[in-house]
Amino acid sequence: MDPLAAFRALATPEGRQAPYPLYEAIRAHGGLVPVKEGTLVAVGYRECTQALREPRLQVQDGTAFDRVYPDWRDHSSVRAFTDSMLYSNPPNHARQRGAVNTEFTPQQVGRLRPVIEETITGLLDRMAGLGAGGAEVDVMEEFATRLPIAVVGAMLGFDEERVTWFRDLATAIAVATDGFTNPDALATADAAMDELAAHFGELIARKRGCPAGDIVSSLVRLHDTDPARLSHGELVGNMMLLLTAGFETTAFLTGDGALTAIRNPEYAARLCVDDAFAERYVEEVLRVEPPVHVTSRWAAEDVTLAGTRIPAGARVVVVLAAGNRDPRRYPEPDRFDPERVNSQPLSFGGGIHFCLGAALARLEARIALPMLFRRFPGLAPTGEAAYRDRWVIRGLRTLPVTTGSGEPAVTRLAS
Ligand code: HEM
Repeated sequence: MDPLAAFRALATPEGRQAPYPLYEAIRAHGGLVPVKEGTLVAVGYRECTQALREPRLQVQDGTAFDRVYPDWRDHSSVRAFTDSMLYSNPPNHARQRGAVNTEFTPQQVGRLRPVIEETITGLLDRMAGLGAGGAEVDVMEEFATRLPIAVVGAMLGFDEERVTWFRDLATAIAVATDGFTNPDALATADAAMDELAAHFGELIARKRGCPAGDIVSSLVRLHDTDPARLSHGELVGNMMLLLTAGFETTAFLTGDGALTAIRNPEYAARLCVDDAFAERYVEEVLRVEPPVHVTSRWAAEDVTLAGTRIPAGARVVVVLAAGNRDPRRYPEPDRFDPERVNSQPLSFGGGIHFCLGAALARLEARIALPMLFRRFPGLAPTGEAAYRDRWVIRGLRTLPVTTGSGEPAVTRLAS
């Protein structure tokens, strides 16, 4: 198949439902493939890794947006993301990331374990109630999407009652990360952003008057002490990023982890009793079904990468999900195998933009999946699990199940 045809097919509903054969079709032409003037696609593990670490390949920041989307400032959702670290290059990037990175170390994140466990227990109790008498429950709606928003909400110091409100706004706003491909959805994203920005304004004022130990309080303190260190726009932009970056992504990781274990009961049983297995299992879910399929970089000047010339201004589409299934890196790449050693999937990116929340996402999934199957050992699918019609951030839309008896496995064994 022609690589451009395969690349274009990724933008169709069929391609979005089944992207892996299309990645393979592109990879048949190499690990870094020029598909049209000014666009190359990285589909090899090595090429993706090199592209993410190459300093001359940069993210599209406000200056770059000015060249291609002159009216981007009219969209509040795009404006907010553009003020965040994910859309910033050196030296702005390090300044912004430095404002929050100590909150996301594995050690710091580990302190959230009690909050995560308590949140999960509450969600499982709720699921048990909803699923009583064999009623259908959607794991995505009732569990996977509620957990990350509650956890990040606790980190940022949001009100607990607002969790589903944040979730719905964050879902609408996340479309802005797909760029300017969908103008209607962008209008909805802007409206959601305006609503959220008004709430952020109140929250910032509240934290300023009465600071606590949460991230928003420390960002406000940093901004007030030295606005050159973190501007008001960057304060709001990074709050937005933290709220949205870890929400759908972590939900999709949990959802795909649950689906794989429902289909393979031996994994579900082992998750319940073996923490080391749960860690390897989550890594393999990340490799085989990464929530972020793709990111992009632009060449600030001519670069040669893996022997291929990338002219200044060209875009490199880095397909993390394809690198994760590169047969040169992973034997039998399409096979789910939690026993793989030294897997290191590309799912959290690489280089300076490596996912800030990787430790948090891993911790949530490593706790959530064992607790889910311990509580509902009889979890059974009632319909087709369906993927969303999205490419960049990809995951399950629904995962309908019945919960079984809902009694903890230990109680059932004892009785
Ligand atoms: C399974 C869950 C997650 C996945 C798969 C994921 C994936 C990614 C990827 C691929 C990137 C790099 C994008 C690029 O280079 O263009 C990234 C960046 C980022 N992620 Fe995550 N993420 C997840 C969860 C989280 C969580 C829980 C948070 C925080 C609450 C978070 C916060 C961020 C931030 C702030 C960045 C930007 C870092 C920077 O630009 O320096 N992510 N994530």
